[in-house]
Amino acid sequence: MAFTIAIDGPAAAGKGTISQAVARHFGFGHLDTGLLYRAVGRQMLDGVEPVAAARGLMAEDLEAEGLRSPDVAQAASKVAAIPEVRAALVDFQRAYARRAGGAVLDGRDIGTVICPEAEAKLFVTASPEVRARRRYEELHAQGVETAYEIVLAETRERDHRDATRADAPLRPAEDAVVLDTSELDIDAAVVRAIAAVDAARGSG
Ligand code: DC
Repeated sequence: MAFTIAIDGPAAAGKGTISQAVARHFGFGHLDTGLLYRAVGRQMLDGVEPVAAARGLMAEDLEAEGLRSPDVAQAASKVAAIPEVRAALVDFQRAYARRAGGAVLDGRDIGTVICPEAEAKLFVTASPEVRARRRYEELHAQGVETAYEIVLAETRERDHRDATRADAPLRPAEDAVVLDTSELDIDAAVVRAIAAVDAARGSG
């Protein structure tokens, strides 16, 4: 049976880790939709026109090297503001959402645009300072040399672009459960996310 869990929110709020843990808990598949935009952004950096890149995107492109780098993140946020790019990626995401056995999709517009009928919706957020700190520590652990202030500025820049674009801006769906992880560790956040999905399953 298809059951869709939509998990949206800004970068580094804990969405990815929570989504993976929720998918594992329920035995569902998981699609990190940011990877679609990152794969297109990566191709744009290589000189491919973004709309053509989005239309020609293949599953194996989601496994390309370097999709997690800060340069690709900025490029992803730019291509994500192009309506034709977003349109080209809709069918793939909707097909995944309805796969048999259940699906968790995480992104920015899953509960609002891609899957407004999702059975459970979460909006995972945290303050920009907390998110920048987490991202900085992640990058540092990967050996990427940068400063906290730079990561904070990039976080704000990306938030602003994602929240103010005309097409599918980042915002919580009206029926989403908002989970602020600023003061929660990851285990506590996962427990709350699972409880919110259980509540939606019970009422469905
Ligand atoms: O979640 P992420 O950091 O991997 O996302 C990279 C960029 O892609 C982000 O800046 C906004 C965009 N994005 C989007 O517009 N819609 C989605 N569903 C997922 C990501």
